[in-house]
Amino acid sequence: MSNSADAESVGESVTRHVEELSRSAKEAATAAPDEEPLTPEPSSGITIDEVSSHEGVQTFISLADRYLGEIGYTEHGFRHAGLVSKISYNVLHRLGFDDRMAELGAIAGYLHDMGNFVCRSMHSQTGSVLTYDILKELGMSYKEIGIILGAIGNHEEEFGNPVNPVGAALIVADKSDVHRSRVRVKDPTIFDIHDRVNNAVERSFLRVDDEARTLTLELGIDIELAGVMEYFEIFLSRMVMCRRAAEHLGCEFKIDINGNKLL
Ligand SMILES: [Fe+2]
Ligand SMILES: [Fe+2]
Repeated sequence: MSNSADAESVGESVTRHVEELSRSAKEAATAAPDEEPLTPEPSSGITIDEVSSHEGVQTFISLADRYLGEIGYTEHGFRHAGLVSKISYNVLHRLGFDDRMAELGAIAGYLHDMGNFVCRSMHSQTGSVLTYDILKELGMSYKEIGIILGAIGNHEEEFGNPVNPVGAALIVADKSDVHRSRVRVKDPTIFDIHDRVNNAVERSFLRVDDEARTLTLELGIDIELAGVMEYFEIFLSRMVMCRRAAEHLGCEFKIDINGNKLL
């Protein structure tokens, strides 16, 4: 196939994916939230530092990353946990949620993939169950645990939904972490599509605009390594979920790739 034919088919495919994304998000639009705002008050005061330094958390995240490496997945260790924790906090903080809700976002972000050490399949559910005991042991209230477990248990695109602000922030933060530093395979000739797409992403940043109420995933992709189409092939379902999560936070989700606004 010639380069121009390649370019044409890639363009058509991306357009088709964007249309599908828009339609899916509209169809999946959530119902109006409850009249009463969800509040974690009174705060139990358990901090992200206390949670992240817990021996069980350290052990299980380390094992989760190791076991996922054994079955060929990208990095899911302390780097991913820390980054998702920070982004979740920032999203909630910048959108005007109170400090405690933002801290719960940081805690959920840090713990969300811990269940992978049991099994990749259903890791959001196993992770929630494991998290319950740890947070209870630390002295967290049922109300706060309920917010965090609802977030963790709903972060996978296969069967998750943004059910509270912490969960919505976690979804957007988690799906935003696409970057070449997550690829473990050293030999590009044996990359799968996930490795190829992650490896092509040189820069990723989630921009939160509280005034415009937009969450924009800004990506810098080396299109010599993976095309925009490949990105959409992998991330379509994740982007639909991000859109729904943004709507839950009263925002619009946008994607900018190499300076081009695709959504
Ligand atoms: Fe996950
Ligand atoms: Fe994750």
